[in-house]
Amino acid sequence: MSAIRPATARTSLPEWRAVIDHTRTLAPQHLRDLFAEDPSRADRFSFEACGLFVDHAKQRITAETLVRLLALAEACGLESRIDAMFSGARINTTEHRAVLHVALRAPAGERIMLDGRDVVPDVHEVLGRMGAFAERVRGGAWTGHTGRRIRTVVNIGIGGSDLGPVMANDALKSYATPDLAFRFVSNVDGSDFVEATAGLDPAETLFIVASKTFTTLETLANARSARDWLVGALGTEAAVAKHFVAVSTAAAEVSAFGIDTANMFGFWDWVGGRYSMDSAIGLATMLAVGPERFGELLAGFHAMDVHFREAPLERNLPVLQGLVDVWNTTFLGSGSIAVLPYDHALRRFAAYLQQLAMESNGKRVTLDGATIDGYDTCPVYWGEPGTNGQHSFYQLIHQGTRTIPCEFIGFARSRRPLGRHHDLLMANVFAQAEALAFGRSADEVRAEMAAKGGVDESLVPHKVFPGNRPSTTILAEELTPHALGALVAYHEHAVFTQGVIWNVNSFDQWGVELGKVLATRIVPELEAAAEPPLSGHDPSTAGLIRRYRTLRGRG
Ligand code: F6P
Repeated sequence: MSAIRPATARTSLPEWRAVIDHTRTLAPQHLRDLFAEDPSRADRFSFEACGLFVDHAKQRITAETLVRLLALAEACGLESRIDAMFSGARINTTEHRAVLHVALRAPAGERIMLDGRDVVPDVHEVLGRMGAFAERVRGGAWTGHTGRRIRTVVNIGIGGSDLGPVMANDALKSYATPDLAFRFVSNVDGSDFVEATAGLDPAETLFIVASKTFTTLETLANARSARDWLVGALGTEAAVAKHFVAVSTAAAEVSAFGIDTANMFGFWDWVGGRYSMDSAIGLATMLAVGPERFGELLAGFHAMDVHFREAPLERNLPVLQGLVDVWNTTFLGSGSIAVLPYDHALRRFAAYLQQLAMESNGKRVTLDGATIDGYDTCPVYWGEPGTNGQHSFYQLIHQGTRTIPCEFIGFARSRRPLGRHHDLLMANVFAQAEALAFGRSADEVRAEMAAKGGVDESLVPHKVFPGNRPSTTILAEELTPHALGALVAYHEHAVFTQGVIWNVNSFDQWGVELGKVLATRIVPELEAAAEPPLSGHDPSTAGLIRRYRTLRGRG
């Protein structure tokens, strides 16, 4: 029997059909109509918790939409899935693992059991060691091999072992110690390592090798180059002990690499890579902002965890965000979501969210292995900070043929106040969301032209903004560590909610495997002295390998 079976479980639910039926009644209505019909719309669709104010009023939804989506969420068992995650059930079924990133931010004294063992003390034991280490490095007590204090920290990692710390270190730069500089190396392209270490003094450089598995090709290649760079400069392997620490779940691999496990900060297989920035993977962040601020970050995560677990679905922020995302993607057919933070410190937030959402829910089979046929799962996440994006791709969002739901993120106060800059920045957030929703009609265009001296009919269609382009605006007071934690947990749980409705395993990532396997096979074919037999490849790939070898003088 074929392993590929069509998935009918979701699409045959009456609640699923009810949402589809509802799209037909809503389709002809413009956001202008929806606002005109319901004066309380802004209040009705705005929600607040954990310091985040979330306004969905400019989404193409009505009260009835939410009723039907919430009924669907209940039919999909969302509440019991949330309970299952928090209670340590092995919901990552293909890897037989629990999914307990919420335990990473559980306060000491809380109990989260996995296989009869409370994992919270383990989390706090590592946090304590990280804190002690961070204080020593920040205070200059931890010195390099020659006795000089550490001035630069280089984090080597990729994917979840890079994107979270990169994003968080940028986001919290205004809280960071000026005594340490931070660089991040992720790409196996040697330029990344060469540029990140350019100008650094090896005697004052600390490498964090961050890898959950400690087998990732890119990270190990960069870590080996880092060791060669350091040992070459300091003249002895003994220097490794004072210039390398590891963050990993794999003590044996860390040891085999040559890093003393006394200098290793562990985490656990129940933490997915893309859910790990608040584990020891966040060591670079803790070194930057200190253990106390890192604790505030964790408290922000935890506040949102409690809200997600306890708030009723109809007032549950991550649940509503996840349902709105599903509504736009699966039921209204949008293929992407633009992530538009109006805070320069969140310049890497879209990249972070890309992995979180797309590696979690970019799936085409259900939890029980049936092929999804008949609905779309994860959209493409992309974005840039505002206002820069406005001068680049917003043209398409306003007037292109596709509808692209937008997520605006802004803060009431800047961490770097400068004259009127912040008001100018925030005026743009509100203006963009308004323009997207309401647009500008042909009559409005003509009236504006007439006021300026004459109507040029040929220009009217070009100047029309159709509007009815959905967005959510998330507003918080200030980008503090607590706010960042709440914002990230908000998205983690929204992604979880999406995954439950789409009926996929949000916690595995088999889709990254095949390319890795093929690359491993191709490396020796590129490097072989004699022409390798390339019969195992298709003609296109074999031709590219041959041409590469010729260009490298290996033909
Ligand atoms: O890209 C696949 C992946 O496994 C991600 O899920 C993960 O974040 C990344 O590689 C890095 O993995 P590791 O931390 O094990 O080096």
